[in-house]
Amino acid sequence: MCGIIGYCGPKAASEMLLSGLKRLEYRGYDSSGISVGQQNSGEPHSSEATLSIYKKEGKIAALRSIVPQELPGFWGIGHTRWATHGGVTDVNAHPHLDCTGEIAICHNGIIENYMALKERLEKEGHQFVSDTDSEVVAHLVESFYTGNLESAVKAAVSLIQGTYGLLVMHAQHPNEIIGARNGSPMVLGVGEGEMFIASDVSAMIAHTKQVVYCEDGEVVRLTPQGFHVTDLKDRPIDKSIEGISWELEEMEKDGYDHYMLKEIYEQVDSIPRAMSGRLDDTQAAAVLGGLNMSERELLAVKRIVILAAGTSYYAGRVAAYLLESLARIPCTTELASELRYRNPLVEEGTLYLAISQSGETIDTLMALRELQRKGGRVLGICNVVGSTIPRESDGGVYIHSGPEIAVASTKAFTSQLAALYLFTLKMARMRHMAWPQGKRFISGLRALPGNLAQILQNAPALEALAQKYHSAESFLFLGRGINFPVALEGALKLKEIAYIHAEGYSAAEIKHGPIALINPSTPSFFIVPDDHLRDKVISNMKEIKARKGPVIALCTQGDQAVAAVADDVITVPPCDEEFTPFHMVLPLQLFAYYCALQLGRDVDQPRNLAKSVTVE
Ligand code: M6R
Repeated sequence: MCGIIGYCGPKAASEMLLSGLKRLEYRGYDSSGISVGQQNSGEPHSSEATLSIYKKEGKIAALRSIVPQELPGFWGIGHTRWATHGGVTDVNAHPHLDCTGEIAICHNGIIENYMALKERLEKEGHQFVSDTDSEVVAHLVESFYTGNLESAVKAAVSLIQGTYGLLVMHAQHPNEIIGARNGSPMVLGVGEGEMFIASDVSAMIAHTKQVVYCEDGEVVRLTPQGFHVTDLKDRPIDKSIEGISWELEEMEKDGYDHYMLKEIYEQVDSIPRAMSGRLDDTQAAAVLGGLNMSERELLAVKRIVILAAGTSYYAGRVAAYLLESLARIPCTTELASELRYRNPLVEEGTLYLAISQSGETIDTLMALRELQRKGGRVLGICNVVGSTIPRESDGGVYIHSGPEIAVASTKAFTSQLAALYLFTLKMARMRHMAWPQGKRFISGLRALPGNLAQILQNAPALEALAQKYHSAESFLFLGRGINFPVALEGALKLKEIAYIHAEGYSAAEIKHGPIALINPSTPSFFIVPDDHLRDKVISNMKEIKARKGPVIALCTQGDQAVAAVADDVITVPPCDEEFTPFHMVLPLQLFAYYCALQLGRDVDQPRNLAKSVTVE
């Protein structure tokens, strides 16, 4: 979703903003823009300045092409826009200006009462030029401005209903940026004589690894010398500076054509990282210190509810199956967006798990807050250290998959699974799982990297499969039991990056409706490991074959019965049933990737999608 960046310091602001925006590209956007303050005398400390604004629909490269090289100016703000209110046009791109052209704002979020505010401001004589909700902020700040920019911003945001990560600059306030946060992420970067402010650390990691995470209700005043944080009532807030552990190199493509491909291959390393230091061989259990719960409290858990969105939701569905079958705890997974508005019952003995790669998904965050407001205990299973969900959770587990840049989530899914498998092991060993089973479970986890490395060798076969099938208009992905959510994830991957319509179903459900879709040009991708439901799935495959539907099967090596029915077969190494989701999802990720390539799609930044979904 929208990305924001601000810079003040001794370097050319335009270059700092453009390179920062480039790093924010992965969030998903459709236009971008910058505002750079230029001291009229050319001196960084001159008190007279004007703002230069450049905005462009399309990629950052298009914006860069209209920004003069060596543009003077030492402070500025920039934005990547993911359209919500108003079409994708140069005019609707941020920054937006007030009537004087002296105030520029960049906004991430949604102003829900913008219509009422706009009407009021128009009556007062303000002229609007865009169709966006965000432009009202520039005019509101203008209406309150009497010489103190920070006070004007505070007065403006106190009238706003909705979410914002907001940056404001004023031509008469050289080297000063005001930031305000409510519901949209914002982080400060502390450099040597320079300061950054952005929606995530990737925008500044090339320059500093010292950061300060902002909270809702905070307003920041930034100058090259430092930062000052207050609340809306001007009370100062003490903030601590934290270090970032991610390396810049982790955010590069490292020779791969796409981030998605790199991240698929990285799973061999990211899964063990999620488990590192967390397996206790002596007790055949898992050590998860971050849960912030005693063994007694964990034993008192009677029910688990998982909340998440998208791919994280499917990881939660796999975990629910596992927690129920191995830990014998009733567990359900809910779409966070639905849970929040459903007035959920929060009962004693229920533990909530919020799963989110980014840690910023607004649906998940809002559901977490609603549950906590009702007294629920929520643990976060997240990747981005310092993001909002882990900071607001009562405890949790970082999955440590490293930065995931491609919009399509791949390595985060399997690392989420790894963390959830550890959590299941911990809960199961406190209940029904005996020591030998615990040992076997740990062996299964340890075998994953080797098995996944073998599966990656299937890449050429999956590429060939994509060549054969990429022109199909529609796919079914079918699995059962613990692999039903994997079928849903396979369908999601194909939809989001190849733009091919795909439905995920329980293989058992096809006869209740979807089988009507079957014809010779609608392939069915079956997930059919050697598990207790295999024979039933083979029967479902035959039902499709009988109706002349092409059948692709993902099965265990050497499974002749499956091979005899399917038109095309991809195999994975044998493993215990509960570990099949790790094995099955990798080929589905590669298949979606190669289909997208065949179709010439923008693999890493698919149309209309955002990496971090920070608006409802
Ligand atoms: O950051 P989160 O895990 O909370 O994101 C949730 C979904 O937006 C995300 O998984 C989305 O579905 C991905 N694009 C899937 O590849």
